[in-house]
Amino acid sequence: MSFNTFGHLFRVTTFGESHGPAIGCVVDGCPPRIPLRQEDIQKDLDRRRPGQSRFTTQRQEPDAVKILSGLFTDEISGEQVTTGTPLLLLIENVDQRSKDYSAIKDIYRPGHAGYTYDVKYGLHDYRGGGRASARETAARVAAGAIARKIVPGLTVRAALVQMGPHKVDRARWNWAEVARNPFFCPDAQTAAVWEKFLDEVRGRGSSTGAVIEVVAEGVPPGLGAPVYGKLDGDLAAALMGINAAKGVEIGAGFAAATLSGEENADEMRMGNDGRPQFLSNNAGGILGGISTGQPIVARFAVKPTSSILIPRRTVDRYGRETEVATKGRHDPCVGIRAVPIGEAMMACVIADHYLRQRGQVGEARPWPFSPPR
Ligand SMILES: Cc1cc2nc3c(=O)[nH]c(=O)nc-3n(C[C@H](O)[C@H](O)[C@H](O)COP(=O)(O)O)c2cc1C
Repeated sequence: MSFNTFGHLFRVTTFGESHGPAIGCVVDGCPPRIPLRQEDIQKDLDRRRPGQSRFTTQRQEPDAVKILSGLFTDEISGEQVTTGTPLLLLIENVDQRSKDYSAIKDIYRPGHAGYTYDVKYGLHDYRGGGRASARETAARVAAGAIARKIVPGLTVRAALVQMGPHKVDRARWNWAEVARNPFFCPDAQTAAVWEKFLDEVRGRGSSTGAVIEVVAEGVPPGLGAPVYGKLDGDLAAALMGINAAKGVEIGAGFAAATLSGEENADEMRMGNDGRPQFLSNNAGGILGGISTGQPIVARFAVKPTSSILIPRRTVDRYGRETEVATKGRHDPCVGIRAVPIGEAMMACVIADHYLRQRGQVGEARPWPFSPPR
């Protein structure tokens, strides 16, 4: 069985293939009367769009989004707002070059999904990877732009923190830098290192992996649905569901295994605002599958692009051994364009849990509680 919908109350269904006429999504469950303009979605799509630097695929897709349903003019504000009915977002594909793929239509690219689609469905759309193409993620980014508007005060940002072996220096982390270089890198000096590194990788006809860090601030405490809908579990699934993702960690993540109990404990004090103040955030903002109110911090690792110019041994659909080298247009490091995709998935998961929390608990009991008399 296939599954193209995610979320419970904020529900996103995506459709479309890389070389079909269009891709898009239906967002169901969005609350009514949320102001929403085409530009709100377009600005996020523009950050994911291909062909913006020599470091991403040269496929030229404007990714112009059309909102076909779910909006109406609010009679009081005069603004365009959501109606509570399904929003259909459509993005036309305009720069498909299917002939680039005809030479490898019967040959599996090692690391791509042609073989698994074939063994599952008995056929696969070889043109640009069909449904397995990261073109589909444009629809996720569009849905994420709506999700961001649902939770008041929510900010979701992401950055590339590692490319190949080269990590950013966290002491030089500057969010403003992310918009100033073609890598979404928060550290200007590391961006310069990556530029040289990726030119060399691309020049060899190779590719490289990367790590993306996603941070959500302004997340209310209490979101998450233990025990099978934990916030960290849903977040891990959403990030792992991004094409080429091979690992996800929350907070200290795998490094938690090397910490002692006292190092790992996020000690608590009372803040001036009457809320607890955590003195560190190894938990990544989630305890027991429920948000603490601290920033939610997640990282995901993506593998190197499997379409490379360097020949690799493989087999074809008819069981014959051969070699493949992929021509055509590809991202030498898919992690770059995965940055806005990670933000979108985080926003969708938080929006869904925000609505679920409102549905189950409604108004939260004020904390701290009064001691019993
Ligand atoms: C933004 C982005 C762009 C991608 N572009 C390419 C590409 O140009 N060529 C390629 O082989 N894979 C590309 N991928 C990865 C494939 O979509 C992915 O490896 C493939 O669907 C197999 O799935 P899996 O790696 O998740 O197992 C891209 C991934 C992302 C996130």
